[in-house]
Amino acid sequence: MKDKILILAIESSCDETAAAVVENGRNVLSNIISSQIEIHKEFGGVVPEVASRKHIENINDVVEEALAEANASVEEIDAIAVTYGPGLVGALLVGVNFAKGLSYAWSKPLIAVNHIEGHINANFIEDRELEPPFICMVASGGHTHLVYVKDYGKYEILGKTRDDAAGEAFDKIARAIGLGYPGGPLIDKVAKTGNRNAIKFPRVVIDDETLDFSFSGLKSAVLNYIHNSNQKNEEVNMEDVAASFQEAVVEVLAMKTIKAAKLKSCGTIALAGGVASNSRLREALQEECMKHNYKFTKPSPVLCTDNAAMIGCAAYYKYLNKQFADASLNALPNLELADL
Ligand code: KG4
Ligand code: ZN
Repeated sequence: MKDKILILAIESSCDETAAAVVENGRNVLSNIISSQIEIHKEFGGVVPEVASRKHIENINDVVEEALAEANASVEEIDAIAVTYGPGLVGALLVGVNFAKGLSYAWSKPLIAVNHIEGHINANFIEDRELEPPFICMVASGGHTHLVYVKDYGKYEILGKTRDDAAGEAFDKIARAIGLGYPGGPLIDKVAKTGNRNAIKFPRVVIDDETLDFSFSGLKSAVLNYIHNSNQKNEEVNMEDVAASFQEAVVEVLAMKTIKAAKLKSCGTIALAGGVASNSRLREALQEECMKHNYKFTKPSPVLCTDNAAMIGCAAYYKYLNKQFADASLNALPNLELADL
């Protein structure tokens, strides 16, 4: 096999049109992200129909830019990788069809990547020394998974949310306290000036045995707090609400992650997904890992939120195993991360 494998990766599962060229899975030659946040902000959330249209408008330029910035010619590309789920079906279809077209036109193998697997693999880009096994806490807008990464491409799901995803809770609370969209980064920012111990919101741990999560009770508790204060004409300190809500989420995520590491006798912990860029979560897990003498690794914020470099990384390990897709590849909006 060649000593340099170049993968062109495409990601369009939600509101970022992204393309990247990645060498040997871990060396990112380009990572172009065209965000639609400014457009969706107006509506307080992602409008699927608008997202699909914008992907169609942007995808050609984004892919061209990724190739140009990587200084890579079409001949040098060894495979085309694309996210095929989970995500918004119309948005996914844009990337999948574009990738299928390129694979056919350029006669290059096609590699289908699960978006959540991509998030986990972002850790390999940031930490060149990282090798499985490790525990990965994946928290994004649509998913909250505690995963045991047994080997490259081999996962055991230890726990997941039974209702809202962590990111979804951040987005909903941000809307309720008038911060707007996207909620996670705004709560993160506002929480810095609030008191995280001001209001004791519930830590929903379900029961001690499970590694599953539940965030809908916390969300209701925060909304009730705001509602009751308004009814009593009491002033609500939004910074304190943001900081106390964030602390409740972070404490549960960190506690369960440490529990998973103990369960698997695994000394390495990683973070992934948009919520992984939360400054308090990063700080709290770092502290917990130091206490327990675990190695803690996390992607830089730009590799936590949606990007195509992480897809190119996950695709490299599939390339090594000759796990290729064919022209029948379809978008799977409800694709799960399977136990392998
Ligand atoms: O992984 P991602 O970019 O897209 C999905 O696959 O869903 O995650 C987006 C989610 C959103 O809910 C967003 O509010 C949240 O990640 N997020 C954050 C932060 N940055 C993004 N949540 C908390 N703190 C942040 N700094
Ligand atoms: Zn994502």
